[in-house]
Amino acid sequence: MSILVTGGAGFIGSNFVLDWLEQSAEPVINLDKLTYAGNLENLRSLDKDSRHIFVQGDICDCGLINQLLQEHTPRAIIHFAAESHVDRSIHGPADFMRTNIDGTFILLEAARNYWKSFDNTAKHQFRFHHVSTDEVYGSLLPDEPPFTETSLYQPNSPYSASKASSDHLVRAWHHTYGLPVTTSNCSNNYGPYQFPEKLIPLIIANALAGKPLPIYGDGRQIRDWLYVADHCTAIRRVLEAGQVGAIYNIGGWNEMTNIDIVQQVIRLLDTLRPDPAGSYSRLITYVTDRPGHDRRYAIDARKIEQQLGWRPAETFATGIEKTVHWYLNNQDWVNRITSGEYRTWIARQYGDCA
Ligand code: NAD
Ligand code: DAU
Repeated sequence: MSILVTGGAGFIGSNFVLDWLEQSAEPVINLDKLTYAGNLENLRSLDKDSRHIFVQGDICDCGLINQLLQEHTPRAIIHFAAESHVDRSIHGPADFMRTNIDGTFILLEAARNYWKSFDNTAKHQFRFHHVSTDEVYGSLLPDEPPFTETSLYQPNSPYSASKASSDHLVRAWHHTYGLPVTTSNCSNNYGPYQFPEKLIPLIIANALAGKPLPIYGDGRQIRDWLYVADHCTAIRRVLEAGQVGAIYNIGGWNEMTNIDIVQQVIRLLDTLRPDPAGSYSRLITYVTDRPGHDRRYAIDARKIEQQLGWRPAETFATGIEKTVHWYLNNQDWVNRITSGEYRTWIARQYGDCA
């Protein structure tokens, strides 16, 4: 038995692969294109582990996927691979359409052709798990209840529109062809190995470098934060016991404004790595808002909690402390990836504030 993971060298995917192989003997075939966001260094501890089979390749390459499925006969596919950064989708949406929509379509077709040759028992046991986002539901007003699995799809950015499209494809492949799929829509993750283009690692990296901490607009936008290891346990639980065809919203019941997040990170840094020049809060800089910026996301996680008994292990206080420690202890990791392409991106996105 084995599982095929796509995007397993990215932030959540690499946490998932590391976690999986810590908990289970079952091999992982890890298909990742190694875009700017993919980093094999995350998986270095598995270098001599024969249970981790890494394949550099594109989910849009149907020949390669067919070959991997025939060769390794996985019992499940867990689909993380995506272009994932909203700001990049605003500057250049094409890669998002290609990977997130075409790539999911190609993967679904390969999975369907593979799965349809199984006998009935194997057909029943196979799973295609699609990893998606709360952003497909759009933006909430301050007094609206959190997103449930039946909330309307109202994606607002090229990224969320591409993820919404992929969710619809997954749903259709189940409804029309009977492919045994599950989908999870998760809130904002944070934790080790997150690429420092995203808010929390960007704030840590910039603070340590004495650079401005860019806050979009008024900084009062709300996200619902979940420690990445909790997302991984939720996906494992859905794989184990999730109902075929079902959607599960995953979140930490942890709504916070961006400015509160930044201030909490600053408090930790001020304690753990005080700067002789004074509190890192002096670096907070309000910058032009993200176009079409969603104001609030919040997840109602009662379905996965009640039906599958999943609960996050970390509170925001414990998770963010682990995260800040990890970045402080792994500054070489940050330094190695914040060269080249990253610098070009930061200059383009933040201009003088970079
Ligand atoms: P990431 O950008 O850190 O990693 C994406 C990975 O996919 C990278 O390793 C990259 O090399 C790989 N990849 C990209 N295009 C590919 C292609 N065409 N073929 C093969 N591999 C390709 O992303 P992440 O934050 O780890 O997100 C993983 C998944 O979880 C995504 O589907 C994302 O939409 C979803 N998600 C993310 C969050 C979050 O807060 N980060 C929250 C909810 C859902
Ligand atoms: O909600 C789940 C989504 O969370 C995932 O699907 C996406 O893949 C993931 O990137 C994340 O999207 P966000 O846009 O919410 O994450 P990001 O870290 O880019 O931004 C978090 C918030 O912080 C958002 O309101 C924008 C704001 N922000 C971000 C950056 C990078 C700033 O104020 N300044 C910044 O420099």
